[in-house]
Amino acid sequence: MVPCESLRIMKVTHKLLFALCPMLVLVFIYYSSGKLHLHLWGHKSHVHVETSVSVKVTTDKPKVTTGPNGAHRYGASNDIIRASLHMIEPKMVDIVSAGQIVNSAFDNQGFLLTLDGKLPVELVHQYGNLSTGACKPGFAAAKMAAIFPKFVKPAPMFLDRNFKRLAKVNNYLPPFGLKTQERIIDTILTATKAFGLSPELDRLTCRRCIIVGNGGILANKSLGSRIDEYDIVVRLNEAPVSGYTRDVGTKTTMRITYPEGAIQKPERYEKDSLFVFSAFKPLDFKWLRHIIFREKLVRQGSEGFWKSVAQFVPREPSEMRILNPYFIQEAAFQFIGLPMNNGLMGKGNIPTLGTVAITMALHNCDEVAVAGFGYDMNNPHAPLHYYETVKMSAIKESWTHNISKEKEFLQKLVKASIITDLTKGI
Ligand SMILES: *[C@@H]1O[C@H](CO)[C@@H](O)[C@H](O)[C@H]1NC(C)=O
Ligand SMILES: *[C@@H]1O[C@H](CO)[C@@H](O)[C@H](O)[C@H]1NC(C)=O
Ligand SMILES: *[C@@H]1O[C@H](CO)[C@@H](O)[C@H](O)[C@H]1NC(C)=O
Repeated sequence: MVPCESLRIMKVTHKLLFALCPMLVLVFIYYSSGKLHLHLWGHKSHVHVETSVSVKVTTDKPKVTTGPNGAHRYGASNDIIRASLHMIEPKMVDIVSAGQIVNSAFDNQGFLLTLDGKLPVELVHQYGNLSTGACKPGFAAAKMAAIFPKFVKPAPMFLDRNFKRLAKVNNYLPPFGLKTQERIIDTILTATKAFGLSPELDRLTCRRCIIVGNGGILANKSLGSRIDEYDIVVRLNEAPVSGYTRDVGTKTTMRITYPEGAIQKPERYEKDSLFVFSAFKPLDFKWLRHIIFREKLVRQGSEGFWKSVAQFVPREPSEMRILNPYFIQEAAFQFIGLPMNNGLMGKGNIPTLGTVAITMALHNCDEVAVAGFGYDMNNPHAPLHYYETVKMSAIKESWTHNISKEKEFLQKLVKASIITDLTKGI
């Protein structure tokens, strides 16, 4: 029911009604759009809400017509008026329905179609006049939300004892969640006891992170000293540091690893870095428990794994963390748009560890850079990794990953200057 009709019941004269109704409608629309805006900021994301509303009274029933933009974004404007009249908090999810976004400025995944490196207007005030070189607090997440309104920043890096409260991961099996693994994770976290970075890094009010990929593109670029300038240096799997420091730097804050990717020779682990475990299958948690409690692996060698795995990791339990699997889920289904497959691992729906690490950084770092990312398929003789002679041509069509779809996502991040790609391979 529109407000005007209920007013009429109150036997106010028609003339007064015509004067009141359009004003009420306007007030409510402005009120509700303002509320929506605030609501969104509270979640650190912001659809830029602009409604142009004109109210015309032609017959004895006033009509509300919204501008094309408003109509597209909101659907029926009457619904909003009704919602705010009855003091129901309007739900953004319902109002910005996916189908209507597609019609406007967003792609199927929900990313803004036109991306450039310019600072969005709404962020100019915050970041426009910071001196160049100063770390910009909240920058990566704010820019991400500007091109991908669904983005919600809070998502802890590592699991802690409250992991069962992480609703988004408790309904999915590995690798997208933790379902069925709760007990073993409890056991593991009882031993690790620590769940943050380091006291110094946790104290920083602005953190710059770099994800160092393993790509051959890192070789002979002498980027080591630039990489070392970052507060947090993330490395992946067995990528070596020793012998390559001129190109890859000396610092390792954390090494994100799954069992098959873990460094096998204990002497090859750097002195201090966090061993961050990322699980892709239930067996991976068993492996971690064995490693932490220094038990002999029940399964011999590589049974159940796709290659041989480390039997020993020279790290104390307090130096081990479990990566929040939400980053795998979000990268796969929200950012890249891989097939859901009912929430189960399936053909081409697992993001690569590098993209998972970038996803983690978008939530937990103020500025994000990458190096050593991207495959140059046009150059089959180029080295695949910076640390071995295997050539690009050796890369096989992967059953698990969808490299080309993943690249589309990473290119959006680069284009919108959300991440800085030091080696320009993305
Ligand atoms: C940037 O400039 C605006 C207007 O001049 C000012 O209000 C704002 O506080 C400045 N921001 C920073 C971070 O210096
Ligand atoms: C890097 O330089 C070394 C020594 O000059 C050379 O042997 C190697 O092939 C180069 N690697 C790449 C990827 O260009
Ligand atoms: C990757 O995604 C594209 C587009 O959705 C699809 O056509 C292709 O088959 C996928 N590749 C793999 C390996 O799943």
